[in-house]
Amino acid sequence: MAKNDSVSLSVVKRLPRYYRFLGEIKKSGTVRISSGELSKRMGFTASQIRQDLNCFGGFGQQGYGYNVEQLYKEIGSILGVNNHLKTVLIGAGNLGHAIASHMSFEARGFNLIGIFDKNEALAGKLVRNIPVRHIDGLYDFCRDNSPAVAVLCIPSDNAKEIVDELVKLGVKGFWNFSHYDIASDYPNVAVENVHLSDSLMTLSYHVSNL
Ligand code: NAI
Repeated sequence: MAKNDSVSLSVVKRLPRYYRFLGEIKKSGTVRISSGELSKRMGFTASQIRQDLNCFGGFGQQGYGYNVEQLYKEIGSILGVNNHLKTVLIGAGNLGHAIASHMSFEARGFNLIGIFDKNEALAGKLVRNIPVRHIDGLYDFCRDNSPAVAVLCIPSDNAKEIVDELVKLGVKGFWNFSHYDIASDYPNVAVENVHLSDSLMTLSYHVSNL
């Protein structure tokens, strides 16, 4: 049983990387791996890895290392990849369309059930085989389907009103591309802000400092 009540955010942030890496080596047929080998391949120290995995009850055995399949499953279960969280996506423009089409929501614990946009010309168009609905239908749809999560792919000046409505309707988590600061208005909802430009500027810093 995983003991993950008070795990630090930095450990949680590393878990998807463990999960992705273990998924890759599992596919290639690796059955077990030591913390030393994990360390070499992932760029964390072996003691960091042992500490991280100990937070969840420690799945390794002295002299054996980690069973890849078991560790992959345990980390997946801690991350909630089988949660099937009902999810709606708001804004079916360039970004929303790309995210809806290319993200493996299901493999990561999310079930995309509705896509909304205010542009009437998009209504009825299929994205990932899901018809885009007009935003006016958001209230009824959420009342009937109770999504837990929303993906925001709309400009920030349009986001507050939508977030207010979604929170009232019971949405508990936002994957937020909108640049609107949800957490300052709603400290009790879960928010993952994504700023691709931050990553780009970090690259710029590294290139400039080579
Ligand atoms: P876009 O203009 O192609 O699409 C935006 C869509 O949102 C449009 O279809 C529009 O009708 C819809 N929309 C606007 N207000 C709405 C509302 N209140 N309810 C429902 N639908 C609404 O723009 P794009 O390129 O898809 O970008 C969307 C936003 O994401 C932009 O504000 C942009 O700044 C941001 N963005 C964020 C990135 C990040 O890394 N966080 C990366 C790229 C864009």
